[in-house]
Amino acid sequence: KRLVVLVSGSGTNLQALLDEIDALGVEAYGARVVAVGADRTGIEGLARAERAGIPTFVCKVKDHGSREDWDAALTGAVAAYEPDLVVSAGFMKIVGKEFLARFGGRFVNTHPALLPSFPGAHGVRDALAYGARVTGCTVHFVDDGVDTGPIIAQGAVEVRDEDDESALHERIKEVERRLLVEVVGRLARNGYRIEGRKVVIQ
Ligand code: GRF
Repeated sequence: KRLVVLVSGSGTNLQALLDEIDALGVEAYGARVVAVGADRTGIEGLARAERAGIPTFVCKVKDHGSREDWDAALTGAVAAYEPDLVVSAGFMKIVGKEFLARFGGRFVNTHPALLPSFPGAHGVRDALAYGARVTGCTVHFVDDGVDTGPIIAQGAVEVRDEDDESALHERIKEVERRLLVEVVGRLARNGYRIEGRKVVIQ
């Protein structure tokens, strides 16, 4: 299976996928990353792809006259690589109608909180501020809401009294990387069905 991974930052989730594919081999893992896309330049996520010899592309919102134009450009850039699955690994933009029309049902996101709690761009900070004793991460299919699509898998992470946002986020990311690698591999190898809010992996 062909994966396109979308990033906006350090790309440690992307790196976890690349390392697993290197370790197992494409055949055993069931997928390979054919391109990495971003909404901005100068990020470690793109550097990781370049080091791995993987094609990259950047679609900046401000390079387009409207959000719809950006969405169309991103859709075209991803479609050019004919992905079976698109993985948002820390991609910090909300995609639009055209992208979802094209890739809905095969577009997976990872979020650093236990959805439906703490959706949005500050899930770790919000869980900490709320005083949650357990938080975690969620891998889900993207729908037309923000972090509201059908949940595939979740991992729990306890919050410690001494945690600040970055310490907690780092601990969440340790679980998140493993969860994402495991889920993407199973989706690619086994195939899946989405039945309402349920995801059934064969
Ligand atoms: C991940 O925790 C992701 O869930 C969140 O931002 C982080 C991205 O980390 N949206 P990285 O870029 O994969 O290192």
